[in-house]
Formats: sequence, C-alpha cells, structure tokens
Amino acid sequence: DVPVLLDRFGRVARDLRISVTEKCSLRCTYCMPAEGLPGLDAEQVLSAAEIARLVGVAHRELGVREVRFTGGEPLVRKDIVDIVARSATAAPDVALSMTTNGIGLDRRAAALVQAGLGRVNISLDTVDRAHFAALTRRDRLPAVLAGIDGALAAGLAPVKINAVLMRETLAGAADLLAWCLERGVALRFIEQMPLDADREWARSTMVPAAELLAVLRERFDLTEIGRSDPSAPAEEWTVDGGPATVGIIASVTRSFCSDCDRTRLTAEGTVRSCLFSDVETDLRAVLRRGADDAEIADLWRGAMWEKSAGHGMDDAGFVPPERSMGAIGG
Ligand code: GTP
Ligand code: 5AD
Ligand code: SF4
Repeated sequence: DVPVLLDRFGRVARDLRISVTEKCSLRCTYCMPAEGLPGLDAEQVLSAAEIARLVGVAHRELGVREVRFTGGEPLVRKDIVDIVARSATAAPDVALSMTTNGIGLDRRAAALVQAGLGRVNISLDTVDRAHFAALTRRDRLPAVLAGIDGALAAGLAPVKINAVLMRETLAGAADLLAWCLERGVALRFIEQMPLDADREWARSTMVPAAELLAVLRERFDLTEIGRSDPSAPAEEWTVDGGPATVGIIASVTRSFCSDCDRTRLTAEGTVRSCLFSDVETDLRAVLRRGADDAEIADLWRGAMWEKSAGHGMDDAGFVPPERSMGAIGG
C-alpha cells in the first residue's frame, strides 16, 4: 500500500485538482476581477511534462485516484490536449476530468477524449444571453452552448453543469433546470463562496441552498436522495419522480469540510491543502532542481498534514484567502 496524503484530522486526499492556468476567456464577477488576473510569465507556469510528472508522483507515491484539470480556464492553454495525454500515460489508472467554461470545447472535445479525458463539468449560470453577458462580462453564451453540444457529441459522460447561485441566477434557476432536463445534462447549483476578487461576498446576502430549494419546488417535485459518497460535494434530489436529478453544492450552509478528500496544485506548482488556506508549498522549485519522486512526495505529504479542519467561514474574525477563485483553481 502506498503512504497516503493524510492530515491531522484523519482525512485522506485522493482527489487532486490541478489549475493549469490563471487565464480565462470570461470574467465572472464571483471569480475574477474585471481586468483579469496579472499574467504569469511562461516559466512560472508548470509545463505539460511537469504536470504529468506530478500526476505520476501523486498516483504512484500518494494514492491519488482522481485528477481534475481546472483554471482559470483550462482550454485557454494551447497544450491542454498534451497535458491530458501525458497525464494519462503517467497515471493510467487515474480518472481524468476537467472543469471548464466550455468555450472552445466543441473544437477540442474529440481530441481530449482520445487523450484520455473521461468527463467534464461545464460552468453555466444562465441560458439568458443578456444575463450571461452581464454575469461573465463577455457576450459568449453561444460559444458555451456549442461547447456543451460538443462535449455530448464526443461522448464525454456525464456532462455536469455548474451554476453559481447569485440573486439574479435564483430568478432563472427553474428555467435553467428545465433547460438541462431537456438536454439530458446534470445540473448542480453552487452556493457562492467568499472567493471573488472584488470582496463583495457577504454571508447575509448570499443565496443559501434552502432558498433555492423553495424556488425550485414552485415548479418541480423534488425528493432528497443525499450524496453519492460521503466526500462528494453535491447533495442530490430527484426531479418529478426521477430518474433526472438536480444537485446542490452547499459549501457554506451545509459544509462538507470534515469529509474533504482534496489536494490542489496551483498553476505555479504549489500545493494548497484547502481552498481557504493561504499557506502554499512550492513543488516547482524542487521539481526543477531535479528532485526524485520520493522527495517530492514527502514535501506534498507534509503540506497536506497541515490542512485546516475547514473553511471557517462561520468563525468570528474569518478572513477570505488572498487569492480569488480564478487564481486558486475552481
Ligand atoms: P465531481 O467529481 O463531478 O462531483 O466534481 P466536483 O464537484 O468535485 O468539481 P467541480 O470542479 O465541478 O466543482 C464544483 C464546485 O464545488 C466548485 O465550483 C466549488 O464551488 C466547489 N468546490 C470544489 N472544490 C471545493 C473544495 O475543495 N472545497 C469547497 N468548499 N468547495 C469546493
Ligand atoms: N463560489 C463558488 N463557486 C465558484 N466558482 C467560481 N467562483 C466561485 C465562488 N466564489 C465555480 C465556477 C466553476 C468552478 C470552477 O468554480 O462556477 O464551476
Ligand atoms: Fe473563468 Fe471559471 Fe472564473 Fe468564470 S468562474 S471567470 S469561467 S475561471
């Protein structure tokens, strides 16, 4: 048995999330500043070969079983197919997935499947074009819809849609669910976390899961079925008797930190034990100075041992992390 990524609270991280870039083709208000993030120099960002090396270490030395590529927007990297292909070769038994805004996915879905990508989660908060443009600060809804079609056509399954709950999204939530049911894609609503660059999030104004449920129940019959496994962030409800379901990721009001199984790598190759921890451990430097797998694995285990119990959003004196979602990796 491989020594695992254990923390002092007894949790084991088996799910690795890798941000491959901080760049993005959208500017969602809850994630990025309007001007985008200050660009990283090319040599600051891990190369495809370096990412694959770390995926291999995570798999062989640390017992990681799932890898998700995120960003920023992973599809803005020209070598994203190469990143997936090399990672698949480095860790053949690991399930590879991606969280994307869908732009450009129609052109690349088939190549990504060929490279070894199993499934995608696509961010889409509304199917109303004007609302989409306001929320993302870019008029790109048609490109996202083409990406969803492309993912389905390429056989990426299941395709899940992620919608962050904002006041405006709440008004269109039932329409978005109806749209997803018609398309045969799984929808999950996500409570907004304090990870916006503009620091406008407030516990008192965010939309809680309970409020969404009440709104959806005006139009749909929902029956709670719970989580697919204890560490799954989404709780599921069947819609109108099933088999269709809707999910809610209630990170704020129904926190799942005590069952968290995540470890993260930023685009610059630092380990982040939690979305909300500002402590990062640099693997890039040791990797580039030629360290062997065992040394990298030791450093990674040390970083995860220090993982905090939870996000602490409800604690007095809570301060959001310095980096916004786009810079941490969604
Ligand atoms: P599945 O394996 O398909 O369930 O993916 P996932 O839900 O783990 O990944 P995805 O990237 O689609 O994440 C959906 C949302 O879950 C994100 O937008 C975040 O809001 C939230 N999320 C992801 N990771 C974490 C985490 O480590 N902590 C918390 N609190 N929320 C997270
Ligand atoms: N709170 C919750 N989810 C967020 N995402 C981006 N910013 C936030 C936030 N502040 C989501 C995106 C996407 C994933 C990468 O993270 O909608 O689905
Ligand atoms: Fe980009 Fe995703 Fe952030 Fe939107 S939520 S700005 S798509 S990284």
